[in-house]
Amino acid sequence: MAVHVDLGERSYDVHFRSLDTLPALLEDTDLRTGRCLLVTDENVAAHYRTPLTTTLEQAGWTVKPVVLPAGEATKSAEHLHTLYDEALSWGIDRQTPVFALGGGVVGDLAGFAAATLLRGVPLVQLPTSTLAQVDASVGGKTAINHETGKNLIGAFYQPRLVCADPATLDTLPIDEYTGGLAEAVKHAIIGDVDLFEFLEEHRTSVLARKDRDAIASAIEQAVQVKADVVSADEREEGRRAILNFGHTFGHAIEKVAGYGTFSHGEAVAIGMRAGLYLSHRRHPDTIPRDRIDSLLRALPVEEDPSSLSFDSIYAAMDSDKKNQGDTIRFVLLDRLGHAYVSSDVSESEARQAWRFAIAA
Ligand code: GLY
Repeated sequence: MAVHVDLGERSYDVHFRSLDTLPALLEDTDLRTGRCLLVTDENVAAHYRTPLTTTLEQAGWTVKPVVLPAGEATKSAEHLHTLYDEALSWGIDRQTPVFALGGGVVGDLAGFAAATLLRGVPLVQLPTSTLAQVDASVGGKTAINHETGKNLIGAFYQPRLVCADPATLDTLPIDEYTGGLAEAVKHAIIGDVDLFEFLEEHRTSVLARKDRDAIASAIEQAVQVKADVVSADEREEGRRAILNFGHTFGHAIEKVAGYGTFSHGEAVAIGMRAGLYLSHRRHPDTIPRDRIDSLLRALPVEEDPSSLSFDSIYAAMDSDKKNQGDTIRFVLLDRLGHAYVSSDVSESEARQAWRFAIAA
């Protein structure tokens, strides 16, 4: 099983297989056996550092592990410099790959380090969270945070290879597992009616993490949507922005509630309900609102968002637009499986969408 990201000479495959098979994949990708950096966090290291190191060493690799604290705070200039120090004092050359073993934080930080060390060394993404497997490890966005905002320092830097091992999802805390599924539902809604129907059919077993085959199939289909979008618009000059469905409200929710109150997946799930409302108002005949809403509401959200005021959410969306241009941009659907970007949403309409999104 593999999904191809088609970017000319920077093309690569996303494989869904055991990390035990990584040496063979590396060989097929023409990565020279030798020294490698294995970047991970403390939580992931507890499960996978030793077995993966053994697998790599048995295949002839010399592994330098760099284990960072788990959590969003690790996406910082300080931890990036720790990584630079470890890599440069150990001695790397431009053929030394960085293996990013972990969730979105490790992938973004190690990816940015790979983009910048010696002006670029090979990057291999080994995502172990649902969010990273479905979304963050594919498409080449790498970044660290700055005190003024998330992901403000970074680069587009494509990996040479992605190996997502479905078994690694078994050891995730369940809320982290389900949070990442929001991005799979997003990919279905914006780009794949078959995946949407698959998720409708398997929602109970997939959400309960009870059917590994269905989970692996859903993730592969979701990655295919992302691969198609990225292949068409690598640097988000147009179409790639549809991947932000649910994110205009979602980012504002995370910011206003205080980062960590709602997980990214929870905030995006609520944001997608708002996007659904706006889409249905414009395209009532082609948007099956109740059907989409039913799948969105199956995604668990622990906190009650109704304590957040619309005015503060709107102010956060309004200030975020600085990063994007003069108007607040929303991703809307004109039918299930097809999305577009709109700057044509009034404040009063956004207020109604918020009411719909937070209604019990
Ligand atoms: N997660 C959105 C993107 O990769 O463009």
